Amino acid sequence: MSTLAASGAAARPGSTKKASFGKAPDGQDVDLYTLTNKNGVEVAISTYGGVVVSLKVPDRNGKLGDVVLGFDSVDGYVSDKSYFGAIIGRYGNRIGHAQFVLDGKTYTLAKNNGENTLHGGNKGFNKAVWTPKEIPAKDGQALELTYQSKDGEEGFPGNLQVRVVYTLTDSNALRIDYSATTDKNTVINLTNHSYFNLAGPGSGDILGHVLTIEADKFTPVDSGLIPTGELREVAGTPFDFRKPTLIGTRINSDDEQIKLGGGYDHNFVLRRKMAAQISLAARVMEPKTGRVLEVWTTEPGIQFYTGNFLDGSVQGKGNITYTKRSAFCLETQHFPDSPNKPKFPSTELNPGQHYHTTTIYKFSTEK
Ligand code: GLA
Repeated sequence: MSTLAASGAAARPGSTKKASFGKAPDGQDVDLYTLTNKNGVEVAISTYGGVVVSLKVPDRNGKLGDVVLGFDSVDGYVSDKSYFGAIIGRYGNRIGHAQFVLDGKTYTLAKNNGENTLHGGNKGFNKAVWTPKEIPAKDGQALELTYQSKDGEEGFPGNLQVRVVYTLTDSNALRIDYSATTDKNTVINLTNHSYFNLAGPGSGDILGHVLTIEADKFTPVDSGLIPTGELREVAGTPFDFRKPTLIGTRINSDDEQIKLGGGYDHNFVLRRKMAAQISLAARVMEPKTGRVLEVWTTEPGIQFYTGNFLDGSVQGKGNITYTKRSAFCLETQHFPDSPNKPKFPSTELNPGQHYHTTTIYKFSTEK
């Protein structure tokens, strides 16, 4: 079994390198692609789940550090239940009561999260082997991943052709372009589920990270974490991140929504000037290393999740144990349960339409 460590020494700046990452449960070979930009910033992506396995970016002294959680070989991802770094589909986050109605027909999905469907069902896109292709990029290194999700897969209608392009730019950004087409009316909500800790591996919890979210409203949830349909003002709540605020300041507050989420596990309604235009969604700064992450997206929402379900039972890269709140996720998305919420922005995709969304994770540092 090949491991990250065994996959070789640091790659040449401005290069893409391929190594074996092991085998999927069905015997398919899984590769690990390492994209290195001209500054030596490096992202490793697995064809299993399209997972971002590692992402090494500089701190304020120029020292590279891995800022995402993950595993050393494909086996960790095969047994993973936390969606570390993966592409999520066909429908990111939850669909209430594991069903929805489209064109008068009820579609029944797997109940893989209590009564609900989470992140595409029992075998979401995070458990698929994607077809890789190195493609040219104007400003950096790019890897295309494609996957065909069959009509009826996990209960969803329509053959869906999915294409995800990861581009590591020379300005230290990881850009993700998601596209898809279908041959029947369906629903779609693609995202990436990277768990970030900007202080680097094994550095404890993320409560000291400083977060800003460009949202005036969020979508409160019920006890199954399904949105109630309300768009609630963040003003006067622990969900007000309109000004830079420590993640930890209000995470244990006596607030109904914080209690339901076990911390933050909520969709924020992004403030945006024009739909479909890429805008800043969130900014995170880590004071010890000075690392800054900005998330830009064309999506209307972002799920801020504080790793509340991580419980120390999983050992990741370098034998580090992933404990509660040792990472945060910022999953760009359409709102959870949109197929059952006619007032939320639509997640329908019909034949002849092209689904295209873009999210950019930009890295920099601050003194
Ligand atoms: C999303 C969900 C969380 C949790 C994680 C994966 O962020 O909103 O509730 O399921 O995925 O563990």
